[in-house]
Amino acid sequence: MTQQTSLRPAIIAIFGATGDLTKRKLIPALYNLFLDNHLPPQFRVVAVGRQSDHEVFVAQMLDSIAKYSRRGAADPVKWKEFISRLQYIVGDFQDQALYKKLKKIVDEDEREYKCECSRIYYLSVPPSIFSRISDGLGSVGLSQARDRDRIVIEKPFGRDLESSEELNQHLLASFEERQIYRIDHYLGKETVQNMFAFRFANALWEPIWNRRYVDSVQITVAEDVGVESRGGYYETSGALRDMVQNHLLQLMTIVAMEPLVSFEANEVRNKKVDVLKAVRPLQNQEPHTYAVRGQYGPGTYGGELVTGYRQEQGVDPVSSTETFVALKLYVDNWRWQDVPFYLRTGKRLPRKVSEIVIDFRPVPHQMFPRGSTDSFDCNRMIINIQPDEGISLRFQAKEPGAGMRLRTVTMGFDYTEAFHSQSREAYETLLQEVIEGDPALFMRDDQERIAWQIVQPLLDYWQTTPASNFPNYLAGTWGPEISDVLLARDGRSWHNTQATIKK
Ligand code: BG6
Repeated sequence: MTQQTSLRPAIIAIFGATGDLTKRKLIPALYNLFLDNHLPPQFRVVAVGRQSDHEVFVAQMLDSIAKYSRRGAADPVKWKEFISRLQYIVGDFQDQALYKKLKKIVDEDEREYKCECSRIYYLSVPPSIFSRISDGLGSVGLSQARDRDRIVIEKPFGRDLESSEELNQHLLASFEERQIYRIDHYLGKETVQNMFAFRFANALWEPIWNRRYVDSVQITVAEDVGVESRGGYYETSGALRDMVQNHLLQLMTIVAMEPLVSFEANEVRNKKVDVLKAVRPLQNQEPHTYAVRGQYGPGTYGGELVTGYRQEQGVDPVSSTETFVALKLYVDNWRWQDVPFYLRTGKRLPRKVSEIVIDFRPVPHQMFPRGSTDSFDCNRMIINIQPDEGISLRFQAKEPGAGMRLRTVTMGFDYTEAFHSQSREAYETLLQEVIEGDPALFMRDDQERIAWQIVQPLLDYWQTTPASNFPNYLAGTWGPEISDVLLARDGRSWHNTQATIKK
């Protein structure tokens, strides 16, 4: 791979350098980009934190690389080279002196590199500080270079429609919309990006990718872990805000979007917005007909007893926060009218899996005699986002031997087997795109707003009507029974529910 010589030098400032995201994702991603020559030849990483010092920070990051990088422990020579471009500074985000210090570093680097750098400010901090940092950067002129200054923020972008609009207004006081990179890390996953290739680089799927052939779509993002150490945050969020408003709706837009004219950033984002705009508004009456919420209680996991959500650290012992959501949406347009999109996510489910299942309609006429098969399964396409990245297609085949006996078989594409390479981490892709100044994979303000509008009626309803039956599923199961009822009412069932029951 060649060095990115055409890229202008970059200064990447990470606010919240001692936090979890920095050690688990950001530094390992930057280090891998460095190893793969995807960073510009001249770059600096300025890590801004409130405790620790440079030496301690560097040692912690070396440990983190060993623990969290897909490549494992760092190569000593390369690491030395990488950290020669890494500077840790201590500062209080509330204190104006921090922004002046950062400005001084930026000015010195630009003098040394003898050119204007791309300046990236990554806010890996609690959302309550976003506005303060954006103001601070603006106050010292670090937001003025509209083509070179970029601010990257992590979700949650607000808690609801109103607060996300307030946050936007605040950011817009210093930055223009084109400078704001709102990260949804699902969009950086290789398999999610492959959806573009799969749908739009192949002629086979487009003719059947519509209400005429598709019966229903299921999107599942299941996690086996509980809330881990994030109980405090999760109490203010819940699964609807944490996963559905962003990751699941984004996956849905890629499945449902119209073919793109080009891969240009605004074209991609416009087509996604079109899908979101077409989502049939949820009513805040009768939500049980389209939405289910759940919360895990204690259960067993891999033979071990695990605690329930209410017993997790930082969680209210009578919490009404949902850790599971199942939701039925419709996209009211020519392509998808009346095709249900079932979305499901939860913590402490039986296994970690993210997948999109497209169920096709049955053949119009069944010419095979009864008894030719035990069950006449319809065609089904499964797009595995993680962990077993790949795509499989289920169809009917004749069993070898006398007579016409049918059996369901599967044709598959396995990512690792096909490419003999390891997928890179979502954060590597996303950081690279920010450095290159391509916002296609990031959320634009209107996408964000419409996504909030979609879930807001449900947020309001659940807020005002606390669940009376929580906890309603055992850790290690596929969520509350009413989640199955949601689909059963439509004569359908969740893909993989059976498999788990057997488990
Ligand atoms: C984050 C959520 O956005 O996504 C977490 O805040 C969740 O609660 C995580 O665990 C899941 O991401 P992934 O990439 O592990 O599926």
